[in-house]
Amino acid sequence: MTDKKRGFMTKALHSGWESDPATGASGLPIYATSAYQFKDSAQAASLFNLEEDGFIYSRLANPTVKAYEDTLNALEGGAGAVALASGQAAFAHLITALCSAGSNLVISRKVYGGTLTLMQNIFSRFGVEAILVDSDHPCQVEQAINDDTRGVITEIIGNPMMNVAPLEALARASHRHGVPLIIDNTFATPALCRPIEWGADVVVYSTTKYISGNGNLIGGAVVDGGNFNWSEYPEKYPGLALPDPSYHDIVFAEKYGRAALAAKLHCSVVRDMGGCPSAFDAYLLYLSLSTLGLRMKRHSENGLAVAKFLEKHPQVEWVSYPGLESHPQNDMAKVYLKDGCGGMMAFGVKGGVEAGRKLVDSLSLIGHMANLGQTRTLIIHPASTTHGQLSTEQRAKAGLSDGLLRLSVGLEDAEDIIADLEQALSAAGK
Ligand SMILES: Cc1ncc(COP(=O)(O)O)c(C=O)c1O
Repeated sequence: MTDKKRGFMTKALHSGWESDPATGASGLPIYATSAYQFKDSAQAASLFNLEEDGFIYSRLANPTVKAYEDTLNALEGGAGAVALASGQAAFAHLITALCSAGSNLVISRKVYGGTLTLMQNIFSRFGVEAILVDSDHPCQVEQAINDDTRGVITEIIGNPMMNVAPLEALARASHRHGVPLIIDNTFATPALCRPIEWGADVVVYSTTKYISGNGNLIGGAVVDGGNFNWSEYPEKYPGLALPDPSYHDIVFAEKYGRAALAAKLHCSVVRDMGGCPSAFDAYLLYLSLSTLGLRMKRHSENGLAVAKFLEKHPQVEWVSYPGLESHPQNDMAKVYLKDGCGGMMAFGVKGGVEAGRKLVDSLSLIGHMANLGQTRTLIIHPASTTHGQLSTEQRAKAGLSDGLLRLSVGLEDAEDIIADLEQALSAAGK
């Protein structure tokens, strides 16, 4: 059976690493090294000239990182994956690969606040603009794209509004105008959705979240889907489709074919910007991938049980979880997230911000922290934390009410999560 046809769990366990060719060790070694001994000066030159594959310096590539990248890439069905030091670094490197002064990105206004502030605070200073749209409506996206657009960005499930991306319609809208569709798949992971299969061109992750699962590191990744033909638009993507002066005038699209974007990121952008992860973090992430399929199944089962409980609770005003029939995009979730909707949900309690605060302070099992996608259940109030740097107007436009609470349902026994919410809701109602 070819690797492509294998099931998700088999790929997770057998894709990027089998055993160490030197020692036979089956566990992935942590190659704690900055650099690699060259055989001779001819080999050194050949590695630097990209004439042979190998390792030069761990900012560019490292065997532990590569094993993890290859596993993630196999799970996603991409042409090449690039690991970065954080989700923010993943976006920063990707945007640098695609954009230059005068260009823009069409971005959903309902994405993670940090993605928006990266554009507003950093890239705007270099002349790269963000055009914000409601990506639930692909026609809005299409209208916003212009000759200077270099990509469309949205999240598979929006943080924290839980809106589901209309993947196929967004892909069609983007492709009609010669721009790639970039999906942040952090909330679903390849265990629940593989956006490339639905037409997306690039997938981005904060691997800090479900991919790690243990809340023990910060990481990010970009997966090159391999289907976007950069060579068709040389004027838009000169760094991929034309001789690249940053690397001996090689044409990445010619030399690396489908994996052009991944190669450009590795060889040029990460080399110059330096957002590589450590071998130790890549090792932890590699281990986590082996259980991702099991964890996402359980997150989804627990998520649905908790969402159903909240929906029925008299103290709860509203719940947004794509797996609930009441979710406006539940039909789409049944298609794109048919194996489950994960553990993320948003809800509002009666009594507004004050009641929400009381609820958070009354929880005992559920943790209160600025993370999500961990094995443990966590809660946060986005308007005063993760999305607090956005203006009130921006939050209102994204539909993010001040009373919204974001819950990341973990892997504990669902009854225990529900019992903790029950007692906290009752305390909040007093
Ligand atoms: C959907 C999403 N994308 C990207 C990021 C940024 O990732 P990181 O915190 O790993 O830099 C986050 C962080 O919360 C996120 O939720």
